[in-house]
Amino acid sequence: VKPSLDPAFSSWEFLLDVDGNTQLLGAGGFGQVYKAFTDKQQTVAVKIVKLEGASSASLIDEAIEKENAEISVLKAVRHPNIVQFLKSERIKKGELCIFTELISGHSLSELMQLQRRPFDEAAVRNFSKQICTALHFLHSRSPVTLHRDIKCSNIMLTNEGLIKLIDFGVAKEVFATMCSTKTAHGTLHFMAPELFSEDEGIVYSPKTDVWAFGCSVFEMLEMKPPNWQFRWQQIPLRIHNHDMPQLPAEALRPAEGLLRTVRPEGAEEASGRRGAAGAQISAVTDWHES
Ligand SMILES: Nc1ncnc2c1ncn2[C@@H]1O[C@H](COP(=O)(O)OP(=O)(O)OP(=O)(O)O)[C@@H](O)[C@H]1O
Ligand SMILES: [Mg+2]
Repeated sequence: VKPSLDPAFSSWEFLLDVDGNTQLLGAGGFGQVYKAFTDKQQTVAVKIVKLEGASSASLIDEAIEKENAEISVLKAVRHPNIVQFLKSERIKKGELCIFTELISGHSLSELMQLQRRPFDEAAVRNFSKQICTALHFLHSRSPVTLHRDIKCSNIMLTNEGLIKLIDFGVAKEVFATMCSTKTAHGTLHFMAPELFSEDEGIVYSPKTDVWAFGCSVFEMLEMKPPNWQFRWQQIPLRIHNHDMPQLPAEALRPAEGLLRTVRPEGAEEASGRRGAAGAQISAVTDWHES
């Protein structure tokens, strides 16, 4: 039997390298991810989310509470293609530690940078199938669980070739409004058109996850997300008023068979452009089962 992680640890230390430095696994908009060692002798990953410089203490509290609540939900999610959340802990005001299983390997965006080229069709198919399996699992849960931040930098590939979704966008909306300079520019390219409509506000749904998955397939084939050439201020209007940009011919050719699978013919016309993400949902379901 494969031993499983025990989230019941009560103390932990950063894991240090031979020179006594903390082992940084990655860094991004809202925090750093380090290796840590627990009193249950487990090596885990800990993400330290810092909300410094935010305007209001009560907003920080709200964001941290929201994040904490969502993590208790995510702790119950067990799937081989989804990072296992273990626990979250407030260490001081405005700082939250999120513990997860430690994943080997790299994110898909790091891998493309390391190999200096996009992925070939076989790899894109393999990764996509695993991503769809994970999304199908999340979206079939009751209540529905959303990822909210699907993109290549939040998808890891283990040394064994297993895809793991990481970095759920739990309280990012709250964080983003608080730290306006840190608004998730990197995530803008992956947002579905309906997220920019003024009347409805930001309403994430399984469809917006699927839209972001489609954009991630684009990124795997092109090394850049759709609309990469535009300044971030222009992105919302591009997405809202224009069709999804075509992949360039070089990227399109090896992916033709693949795109026939993800985009059922006529689906866009049938449901309108905005509903295109929705029409792809059946493709996700079919695909994960095939
Ligand atoms: N559980 C983990 N095991 C190993 N490495 C991890 C793990 N979680 C994250 N990492 C590494 O850290 C990097 C950043 O992690 P993550 O995406 O969670 O945070 P972030 O991008 O800083 O957050 P945000 O998207 O909110 O700005 C990842 O690309 C990955 O390389
Ligand atoms: Mg990330």
